[in-house]
Amino acid sequence: MPRRPIQHPHGRKPGPPRSNEKAAGVGCGWDPVAAWYDKLVGEAGSDYHRNLIVPAALRLLDAQPGESVIDVCCGQGVLVRPLLDVGVGRFTGVDASPRLLTAAQSRHGNDPRVVWVRADVCKTGAWADASHDAAACLMAVHDVVDVAALFSNIARALKSGGRAVFVLLHPCFRIPRTTHWGWDGDQKIQYRRIDGYHTPLEIPITIHPGKNTGELTVFHHRPLAELLTALGHGGLSVVACEELYSHRRSQASGPFSKAEHRAAEEIPVFIALKAVRG
Ligand SMILES: C[S@@+](CC[C@H](N)C(=O)[O-])C[C@H]1O[C@@H](n2cnc3c(N)ncnc32)[C@H](O)[C@@H]1O
Repeated sequence: MPRRPIQHPHGRKPGPPRSNEKAAGVGCGWDPVAAWYDKLVGEAGSDYHRNLIVPAALRLLDAQPGESVIDVCCGQGVLVRPLLDVGVGRFTGVDASPRLLTAAQSRHGNDPRVVWVRADVCKTGAWADASHDAAACLMAVHDVVDVAALFSNIARALKSGGRAVFVLLHPCFRIPRTTHWGWDGDQKIQYRRIDGYHTPLEIPITIHPGKNTGELTVFHHRPLAELLTALGHGGLSVVACEELYSHRRSQASGPFSKAEHRAAEEIPVFIALKAVRG
């Protein structure tokens, strides 16, 4: 599929970070924002990890005792404990950020079943060695610059027939700065407004808005067709898909709250895909 040019919807031109910006980049992943992310995710995962992302990943991965599982873009290691708890024989965490890998190591000790690898997952490397039964990639598909390379490297990391599970923000409904909640007072409906979808976007995300720390990440929006096609080209066939709906509910009552609950039940936050290496 020919790549369309990246649009910069907020007047932001491509290029290196400005002088006061510490952008999470290709070479070191989220290293510039590692302290913030480690605190956000903590020991057991963020609220969304605990309630939606990790349960869906475990369901779809269906890891068996003794299996080898690789977590691609593992961050500070949110999947280590749940996978060791189901008895996997080997856990490999790969990430580009030295600080997040250090946080992962310090959180999870020196368990002999766990291996940490620092690598840019958009480049082929020794980690993609066809030795794993399953791979996970949580909340990172929208962070990597080259998704085609990510998918084909994950396929290379798997044994033939190996499973790969991806959980990401739903590309149809959750595009930063481009999709928003709206309120229709006449019909008492909370709706999701989608201002764009078809055009791939590169969206800078400021970590501490208002504090002017200059720390940011870049979110890469790609439409679903582009993601699914890249999975196929990478050698991964999609066999299951779950759309994940927010567990969060406001404590308020009245028509707004009713509409909010209905919207939460109708419009997903994340998409989880399971694919198999042919
Ligand atoms: C939002 S975090 C998700 C981390 C973890 N999977 C989780 O759910 O907590 C995205 C991760 O992708 C990593 N990352 C981004 N681009 C990368 C690349 N090209 N190579 C390796 N890691 C990368 C970042 O360092 C960061 O740890």
